[in-house]
Amino acid sequence: MTEPAEDRTLLVTGIGELVAHDPAHGPSGVLTDAALVVSSGRVVWTGPAARAPAADDRLDVEGRCVVPGFVDSHSHVVFAGDRSAEFAARMAGEPYTGGGIATTVAATRAASDDVLRHGAGRLVAEMLAQGTTTVEIKSGYGQDVATEERMLRLARELTDETTFLGAHTVPAELDRRAYLDLVTGPMLAACAPHARWVDVFCEPAAATAFDADESREVLEAGIRAGLLPRVHGNQLGPGPGVRLAVEVGAASVDHCTYLTGDDVAALAGSSTVATLLPAVEFSTRSPYPDARALLDAGVAVALATDCNPGSCYSSSMPFVVALAVREMGLTPLEAVHAATAGGAAALRRDDVGTLRPGARADLVVLDAPSHVHLAYRPGVPIVRTVLQGGRPVG
Ligand code: NIG
Ligand code: FE
Repeated sequence: MTEPAEDRTLLVTGIGELVAHDPAHGPSGVLTDAALVVSSGRVVWTGPAARAPAADDRLDVEGRCVVPGFVDSHSHVVFAGDRSAEFAARMAGEPYTGGGIATTVAATRAASDDVLRHGAGRLVAEMLAQGTTTVEIKSGYGQDVATEERMLRLARELTDETTFLGAHTVPAELDRRAYLDLVTGPMLAACAPHARWVDVFCEPAAATAFDADESREVLEAGIRAGLLPRVHGNQLGPGPGVRLAVEVGAASVDHCTYLTGDDVAALAGSSTVATLLPAVEFSTRSPYPDARALLDAGVAVALATDCNPGSCYSSSMPFVVALAVREMGLTPLEAVHAATAGGAAALRRDDVGTLRPGARADLVVLDAPSHVHLAYRPGVPIVRTVLQGGRPVG
């Protein structure tokens, strides 16, 4: 296939199954024997292949399945160092506490821009090869003004969805109050120009992270600086993260490993998305949250990787989809929806995550006839072709 010039239209045809998340195609949003037309980087038409309009260029996918590009709404890919020994210790029975974050902070502070840029770029390329066309990236391994600012500047080279997570843990050299003053003062001022979001690691006892009042202080300071809130919550145990996220109108509360009935009810009555990160439960040997119960309660659910060197060193959205189906009670179609449209909702984006007319032409051709194969064939390289803005990548 030739690469479409900006003004050329592209017909993608021979689509055995088009997962468009478009109610125009019925309640499933799926169309069989379909085609799709791209113009100026956007989807401009979808429908039966037999009725497809003419276009300048043509890509015949020969009966394969097409899904929207994955939206990985939670990652920490700017870092240095390796924590494989910590993982091995966990698999031998040690719990995950977040204490290892300090190891990554030390390595990240010591790393040059080029080392960090190369590492993050490699992971984003790995994501793209597995079908992720939109990614969010957080700071949080700097925990001093210069390194937090540097992490976000480097993340911005890779995505517009950047998140200031100065309030990840308290660095060894400062007490809690001094660090909170830094995060909500000079660090926020330096980081806000490079970030869209503000995040905080909220846990009840706050030994590792920040309690509800501290977390609220961080989020409110971020909001005053023009950032939009999101929360790491309920990862290490039941806690206040979910309810704080709902209280401040956060776009998303991420992890949700330990939820009470009150948490589920609070989410159901809110516009906050529950972003589930099952590869973290896999990598920390934690219980999987009940995604089925969340959907049945009417909660909006997203799936993301959380790719980071500590709690989950996987960049694979297909792996996350497979885990959500195998371990969390989602149907394959619900899992694909959560990994695409769900991620878009968690980032408050309406231009990605679906293949409706008007959406960005970010799409994945699977080497399979149906989306079910994402869960049915775990661990195989099932992504054949990725288009981003209508252009083939890789
Ligand atoms: O999302 N929960 C806090 N932060 C990361 C893990 C960071 C790490 O262990 O390096 C997370 O799981
Ligand atoms: Fe995280």
